[in-house]
Amino acid sequence: MAEKTRITIIGGGVCGYPAAIRAARLGAEVTLIEKDALGGTCLNWGCIPTKALLQSAGVVQTMKESETFGVKCKGFEVDFGAVMARKNSVVARLTRGVGALLKAKKVNVIRGTASFADPKTVLIEESGEKIRGDAVLIASGSKPARIPIEGIDGPDVMDSNQVLAMSTLPRSVVIIGGGVIGVEFAQVLSALGTEVTILEMMPGLVPGTDREIAVILQKQIAAAGVKVVTGAAVKGISRRRQENTVTFAVGDRTETVSAEKVLLTVGRKPDFSSLNLDGVGVRHERGAIVVNEFMETNVPGIYAAGDVVGGIMLAHLATAEGECAVRNILGHREAMNYKAVPCCIYTTPEVASVGLTEEAARERGEIQVGRFPLRGNGKALILNEPDGMVKVIADRRLGEVLGVHIIGPHATDMIAEAVLGMTMEMTAEELAGAIHPHPTVSEAVMEAARVISGGAIHMP
Ligand code: NAI
Repeated sequence: MAEKTRITIIGGGVCGYPAAIRAARLGAEVTLIEKDALGGTCLNWGCIPTKALLQSAGVVQTMKESETFGVKCKGFEVDFGAVMARKNSVVARLTRGVGALLKAKKVNVIRGTASFADPKTVLIEESGEKIRGDAVLIASGSKPARIPIEGIDGPDVMDSNQVLAMSTLPRSVVIIGGGVIGVEFAQVLSALGTEVTILEMMPGLVPGTDREIAVILQKQIAAAGVKVVTGAAVKGISRRRQENTVTFAVGDRTETVSAEKVLLTVGRKPDFSSLNLDGVGVRHERGAIVVNEFMETNVPGIYAAGDVVGGIMLAHLATAEGECAVRNILGHREAMNYKAVPCCIYTTPEVASVGLTEEAARERGEIQVGRFPLRGNGKALILNEPDGMVKVIADRRLGEVLGVHIIGPHATDMIAEAVLGMTMEMTAEELAGAIHPHPTVSEAVMEAARVISGGAIHMP
């Protein structure tokens, strides 16, 4: 019988653990090394806990609006301890599940800190054990980025990991950075009763998102009571008697805002500092490991995937890259395809997109844009969330869909049909012609595509 390929995977997050399972399913002998908790950032400090908190925030929202639905709720209160306990129990259940899946696939899971002894050998720092394999996949993830300003190391300045471990709800918070993490936490904290201010450096929240969609989101976040300051260059943080004052410049004015806590959400950066990459010659540039389209580094047999290679840092992309890497290790020749990577923001309203923004598509060539406002969609009215829209962008000549952007209820689930369609190079006409279930918000996707190919039904 042919010998099994031995693969060592560094990191048990949403890149490393699915890659381990895929490799085991493909017949490899797999060792997975994790220094902290299985599931990594996504399960423990990112996607899952934040969405669990957003669900609690959504319940608060529903209680506040209950009379709209004909239900009177006579006073309710938020039990922050119980909110956090529920979040923790969802996380615990999922991480236990990951452990069980790895065990079922006979993946050898080692708890410890890995570094390279040589290109084929990984050393476990705590035990001194050496794992020798045929190939290594680095899936060591990322950590919150910091900015070099005065006061950043103060005791009340938290990153996203620390905010998820809070035991009491702060009275007020200043969030520095109005990207995806910033807006999601703003909504959670504000719904639970914290006074929130977001300071964002760029002219609008969630830069990189289709502008028209981002503007709608920003309006709704502000309408929900979050104070939003854009174009804010943060200068420093000072602390006096339990109160933190953040100084920032807007244009040529200098302003301040004070709060009990400061939350720093200015991005994440790849984390490979303890791996001894330079010792084995793995190339990294601008803080990220460099890989080719097969997820292989410059050192044969060493692969890297997920947040550690930089670029778009999203859980589902990390999973796809990790699986791609192990398939290549095991002799399949498969290049990573980045054409249809969805991005989601789990605020209310949700935001989801795939492909080019309108701005980027216009720069590339002639396009057609189909917009459908959710006020023309029955299900959105039933849900009392009519202030969103779907936007489909297609190539004017070929009709191929180049991007889909949704803001509204269920956006993050609905984007999946656009992802599949774009993966299969669908045209706007094909999207418009597909029969969508009624009544659902997904009909708005069909209607936006119809705007491009013959006109929508539910719009004058
Ligand atoms: P981000 O890159 O999305 O946003 C960081 C924001 O901070 C940007 O808007 C930037 O302009 C701003 N910023 C940077 N320096 C600043 C300064 N000195 N003062 C004020 N603002 C400043 O990064 P974020 O939100 O921290 O998320 C990190 C990663 O995690 C991203 O790659 C994101 O895609 C991923 N993520 C994805 C989620 C999702 O898919 N729902 C949820 C949470 C995170």
